[in-house]
Parts: sequence; structure tokens; C-alpha cells
Amino acid sequence: MMSNTPSDTSFGAQAAGGADHVAPQAWCDLIQRYCGLAFRSARLADVMLIVRDEMRARGIASEKAYYRRLSNPSESAADWDALAVRLTNNETSFFRHPPSFDALRRHILPELRDARPRGGRLNFWSAGCSTGQEAYSLAMLAMDDAPLQGEFTVWGGDISHHAIEIARRGRYGHRAVATVPDEYRKRFLRPLGPDTAIDYEVVDELRRRVRFIATNLVEGGGFRLNYDVIFCHNVLIYFSPGAVTDVVTHLASCLKLGGYLLLGPGEAPHDRPPGLDTVSINGVRALHRRSARALEVRE
Ligand SMILES: C[S@@+](CC[C@H](N)C(=O)[O-])C[C@H]1O[C@@H](n2cnc3c(N)ncnc32)[C@H](O)[C@@H]1O
Repeated sequence: MMSNTPSDTSFGAQAAGGADHVAPQAWCDLIQRYCGLAFRSARLADVMLIVRDEMRARGIASEKAYYRRLSNPSESAADWDALAVRLTNNETSFFRHPPSFDALRRHILPELRDARPRGGRLNFWSAGCSTGQEAYSLAMLAMDDAPLQGEFTVWGGDISHHAIEIARRGRYGHRAVATVPDEYRKRFLRPLGPDTAIDYEVVDELRRRVRFIATNLVEGGGFRLNYDVIFCHNVLIYFSPGAVTDVVTHLASCLKLGGYLLLGPGEAPHDRPPGLDTVSINGVRALHRRSARALEVRE
């Protein structure tokens, strides 16, 4: 859970001199503690516009009162949800960053599928899945691996409840599905209605294997499972260095022995978590749990 809830005293120290204003930096620190996001000073003014607009939208007149309320996330989940949606970037697409999917399809998936115990299922996690395209892309790839015989589950998690609702619905416009290879589109997406240029829906065969949950990576939340593959792309680029290290350490602790963590380009943490090796798979850098020591640390 978020820590360092400011006391009235520290709040006073952080607050700007104005009667009912809280210093922009204090807001940024609060946001960073809650969800990892870090903002450059050039963005502080935008952040403050969003904060104050959201405060008014929720019918709260005092900025200090709003700050105090958000300082206690267990009692302000709905407030945080509304604010986080406006502060985060939800941009996503199917098969975004193709080299990562290629490394998965050609190398990682065959290796893990052949190494799994008899009848074992593979678990994938799309961490920061936004509206679901990344999770469904992983599922399409896994379904297409004939020897795996559909024995897998993809878990998608995101801090935004709104994004998770859209992900669960599994309906996408024709522009959104443009990056789905034709073969997969025919097999895994069903056109809705007579005008096929409008919407597509993920077919049940795929949807059954994908589960979504709203979860905050900074709180160490998730599905409490061990994963074979974790995809975390275009999430950590917005985080402070400290939050990147904490989240990657948490994700690493959720990997099975032999599992892989694939981060987006430029998203690697400064310090590699203990027990993970950096590997390069056709130019894609991934973290691989292969040391027995890692398990000792974890269990
Ligand atoms: C730019 S999208 C990336 C989506 C997808 N991974 C991709 O690469 O296309 C970043 C997502 O991270 C989510 N996010 C940001 N902070 C988060 C946190 N602390 N916990 C979970 N999700 C978070 C945002 O809500 C957003 O949907």
C-alpha cells in the first residue's frame, strides 16, 4: 500500500503558502507514491489543471481537503480511479512492438511449452494492459501455437477500472484491429452487425482464456500467481526510477523458474533484480529467471 501518508504537520510543510493551495510538487509526490507516475517540471501546470478540475468535478471545494482525502487511498479509491484515468496515457494497440511478440512466438513460447510439466498450463500476464489489446494479442499467439493446445491463461491488469471494463467487453473498432494479422483477425475476431467496417468482438474461444482485473502495480497488486511470461510495455517509461525498480522487483518475484519478463525498449530498471539474467532474443532484451538462488530468495 501507499506509504508516507503526510501528517498535518508535513502537509503544512509541503503546502504552498496560499490559503487553500497545495504545492504542485506535493501533488506530484503524492501521485508518484500512489501509482509511480513521475512528471517533468514542464508538465506540472497540466497536472495541476487536471487535479483542480477533477476536484471540482467531484464537488470538493477545498484543495487541502481533496489532498488529505487522496492521502488515504484505502478511503478514496473512487477519487483515485477518476484522477488516475486522467493522468495516465492509455494508448495501446494489438501487437504493439512486434519484435517482442516475435521473440515470444519463435523462441520463448516453444521453450516454455516444451518444458512445462505434463498437462501444465502456461500463465501470461499483461501488466498495464490498458484496454486489453496486449492481453488479447498474447492470447492469439498462444492459441496459434498448436502443440500448446490452448492450455494457457492470459491475465491482464491495469490501474484504470474504465480501461479494464473496455478490455472485458472485448469489442474494438475497425481501426483498432488494423494491426491484427489477417489470419488472426478471421480466426479470433467476429465482425458485429452487417456493417463489418464498424466493430469486432473477440471470439469466445479466446475470451475464455483471458481474465482482467483492476490492479495497481505500485501496490504490488495482481493475481497472486506465478507466471511463465510477463509483458510490461509502455508503462514504466512514465514512472520515477524508484518506482521502476520496485515494480520490476515485484514482477520478477512473480515469475516462475524459467519464466521471462519482457519490458518495452528503454524500460529496463537501473538495477537488475536478483536472480534474473538479462538475455537478448533476436535483439529483444528480456529478463529470465533461471537461477536456483532466485527461488531461495523468493520462497
Ligand atoms: C501506454 S499504456 C500501455 C498499454 C500496453 N501495455 C501497451 O504497450 O500497448 C500504459 C497503461 O499503464 C497503466 N498504468 C499506469 N500506472 C499504472 C499502475 N501503477 N498500475 C497498473 N497500471 C498502470 C495505465 O492505466 C495505462 O493503461
